[in-house]
Amino acid sequence: MNSEGVVVSVSGKGGVGKSTVAALILKALVDSGRGSILVVDADPDSNLADLLGLETSRTVAEIAAKLKDDIAAGRFPPEFSKRDYFETRIFEILHEEEKFDLLVMGRGEGEGCYCAVNDLLTSILDTLSKNYSITLMDMEAGLEHLSRRTDRDVDIMVIVVDRSRLSYLTARRIRDLAKEVHIDFKRIVTVGNRVEPEFEEVVKKRVEEIGLEYAGLIPVDPNIASYDMEGRSLLELPESSPAVKAAKEITRRIGLT
Ligand SMILES: Nc1ncnc2c1ncn2[C@@H]1O[C@H](COP(=O)(O)OP(=O)(O)OP(=O)(O)O)[C@@H](O)[C@H]1O
Ligand SMILES: [Mg+2]
Repeated sequence: MNSEGVVVSVSGKGGVGKSTVAALILKALVDSGRGSILVVDADPDSNLADLLGLETSRTVAEIAAKLKDDIAAGRFPPEFSKRDYFETRIFEILHEEEKFDLLVMGRGEGEGCYCAVNDLLTSILDTLSKNYSITLMDMEAGLEHLSRRTDRDVDIMVIVVDRSRLSYLTARRIRDLAKEVHIDFKRIVTVGNRVEPEFEEVVKKRVEEIGLEYAGLIPVDPNIASYDMEGRSLLELPESSPAVKAAKEITRRIGLT
């Protein structure tokens, strides 16, 4: 597929394997030589960087909080472009790896409306993602990201399910809520994760029963647990690893590689 500026987002129930699936998709993209990639860790309890064996320190949320304080304290002259300022700071914390860039969103502090800052952020991310061939986002668990409209411009929403009933309810809610808040994903696909291959038909059937497209299954892979324990990057998993093979097949089927 040659399309540029494609935004892919990974969501689903808590603990279903979103970050792992995001890391495996990233590996498939990198290994296939797929051009410039932006990875966005959009989970406030972020750990995608960990899975990729990267140390990150600064987050977008920290910059946003400072911007909000500076605006509230009247530290900007009226003609000063807050957007330019914000954008420059975001570029500074963009983590540049050889094969991809990573942006960690982090957790917004405290309550209160960040609306102005959030709108700026959405607009900056929108611009930023146009500079990449693919933007891959690892979302937080559940549905909250939909109401915050973080995934407003997502082209392909990958919803991860496992064998639990709740994971299908969450998948359905993501689809329905997206409609309610007028987010128009161009495509929604469902990936079964951490499921033994003998249950593939069951997973496929359940996915199709709720009217979603089934894109494949990532099996339980013992290498994932051992890499996790050793703190090794999932990007280093061997080609022969069952999850790696499966993720390659899935990205091919979705049309990303
Ligand atoms: N295919 C798999 N085979 C083996 N272990 C897996 C697989 N997928 C995920 N895991 C393990 O399951 C656990 C949860 O995975 P992960 O952190 O990716 O889930 P998540 O949906 O991102 O969680 P959260 O909702 O907290 O963000 C991790 O310990 C991970 O190593
Ligand atoms: Mg996660």
